[in-house]
Amino acid sequence: MNQAAIHKTLAGKPGSKPTSGKLGLLFEKRRAANFTLIQDLFFSLYPEARHTASFESLQKILADHFQNRSAELKLQDLKRQGEGNWYQSGAWAGMQLYVDRFCGDLNKLKDKLPYFEALGINFLHLMPITKRPAGPNDGGYAVNSYSEIDPAYGTDQDFISLTAAFREKGICLMLDFVVNHTSDEFPWALEAKAGNPKYQEYYYTFPDRNLPDLFEQSLPEVFPETSPGNFTYCPQMGRWVMTVFNTYQWDLNYTNPAVFLSMLENLLDLSNKGVDVIRFDALAFLWKKIGTTSQNLPEAHRLIALFRLCLQVVAPGVIILAEAIVAPEEIVRYFGQDILEGNECEIAYNAIFMACLWNSVATKKTRLLRQSLGNLPPKPDTCTWINYIRCHDDIGLGFDDSHISALGWDPHTHRRFLLDYFCQRLEWSPAKGAVFMYNPFTGDGRITGSTASLLGLERAIEEKDASKISTAVRKILMLYGIILAAPGIPLIYAGDEIGMLNDYSYMNEADKVMDSRWINRPIHDWRTVSRLSSEKNHASGIYYGLQHLIALRKQQPGLADTRSIRYHDAGNDHLFVFERDGESDNGILILANFDDSPQVVRTSLLGALGYLREGQFQNLIDGKTKKVRSGLLEISPGELLWLRKC
Ligand code: GLC
Repeated sequence: MNQAAIHKTLAGKPGSKPTSGKLGLLFEKRRAANFTLIQDLFFSLYPEARHTASFESLQKILADHFQNRSAELKLQDLKRQGEGNWYQSGAWAGMQLYVDRFCGDLNKLKDKLPYFEALGINFLHLMPITKRPAGPNDGGYAVNSYSEIDPAYGTDQDFISLTAAFREKGICLMLDFVVNHTSDEFPWALEAKAGNPKYQEYYYTFPDRNLPDLFEQSLPEVFPETSPGNFTYCPQMGRWVMTVFNTYQWDLNYTNPAVFLSMLENLLDLSNKGVDVIRFDALAFLWKKIGTTSQNLPEAHRLIALFRLCLQVVAPGVIILAEAIVAPEEIVRYFGQDILEGNECEIAYNAIFMACLWNSVATKKTRLLRQSLGNLPPKPDTCTWINYIRCHDDIGLGFDDSHISALGWDPHTHRRFLLDYFCQRLEWSPAKGAVFMYNPFTGDGRITGSTASLLGLERAIEEKDASKISTAVRKILMLYGIILAAPGIPLIYAGDEIGMLNDYSYMNEADKVMDSRWINRPIHDWRTVSRLSSEKNHASGIYYGLQHLIALRKQQPGLADTRSIRYHDAGNDHLFVFERDGESDNGILILANFDDSPQVVRTSLLGALGYLREGQFQNLIDGKTKKVRSGLLEISPGELLWLRKC
């Protein structure tokens, strides 16, 4: 029985109201249920006997934070445990946004709740909102504080009141926990710079280049263009410090238990503010070891499980998303394996799905998509995916080379083609993206650009070409219609719902100009929003199309995460075909045409799967029943069908 199952048993019958005495007992029961594993994990990471006192501190941290958790949140924890895996319901539809760029601040965000409601959004990922350096700060991922809200966004009270409003509306809130690094202005970093040896041990600091040079032999570079290497010399401190991301983001040293304990407090404080899902940022990097890439190490997994089990004791209604944009077989390990199964993260980004969708857009072929998804290592039944097309970061081309070679393509040349296709190096391509972190030595690079600009809308508008505009709109809805039908939580990037284009203003801002990811983080266009109902244009087409698809998704029990998925070879490589819940009457067959010409699928396939009867099929998206006259069903360019089982 995994820990979640033990908790469920302890929580008692769903709906039974806990008394305050029962709530008090609950902590003891949860602590007891998790104690052995917490202890084993803690001492496997921090084996020396001198760490016994740290383990005692850990227990006090748990008790204090349980004590501080509000009765309302404790009841919510119980309710969620009673409901089972609430995050696997098909009713979630998510949106990701920067509060300042979306609407200004936290209070104004509260005023936007009707906007989310109208679109059907009930899961929000707010990008970092706590204090950060005034200059470059990686969009808030360089943190000066884990708990104090940046005054530009509002006050702590504004935040607490926002979380209460979200709870009232049934909106699930996801926030980041930047667990791998702090900014170089964080109080610990300031102490370290001032020469305090205690805090120098909170980071990886070194008096000379000896150990950094050894690390560098096997460490890859995350930001080779703007922040080459993994160490930065700090003249104030007179030492080198590990900075795997930007030079101003100092990597935390988790070999020091004091770091773990302080970060655990930060995690539990965040949970006690009413956050539902905590996004563990850059968690693959948590443990460093000379001679390795210092990514995905077993110790990192144990550390995450330790955080998770402590969270289970204090706030079992809160769950963790793994931000691990690594190879698929590594991603699934963040769900927990072997003894840690069900004890790491409940959610992970389906990064390969996202990357393969873009591959299909460029190549107009779907075999890589089908094969990569078909070969995804299975995830535990209790875990789920975030499915997305774009996020605030770049699109990496992390496909499995063997899958590309199996298609008869050369992996290096193929990646080169994708960069050329999306980043304006091919005259005929409709995409308008930018290259991110190009490495001239390896030829590797990543892609940035808004969904709409990458799918041709920006160029089509420039050319005032109505037919190209409608093609781009269809493609946007097709990609979103695919992830809305996939198992997991669909996450829309704010602005995509109205087809927002690239934002080039970052080029004029000194703290952003070096980071082309800002091209894809537009300031929300409320003027366009105000005209959605009165004007018929590409923005309203996308908005209402998406609104419809979200509503439809919520009505289909067959699209819940727990229902099956099967990928079908339609005998036509331009078509992506998959089926949800095919074994039941709720079955749905999804067909999408990635080509720029009409494509056909044999009706015998539809008939054999149960989606065609007496030559007729029903498309859930337009609600129409149509007759097929020949043995072939034609699908227009960029068209998406959700067929109902008949
Ligand atoms: C994550 C974030 C990214 C950030 C990095 C460093 O990958 O998504 O935006 O730059 O972590 O914090």
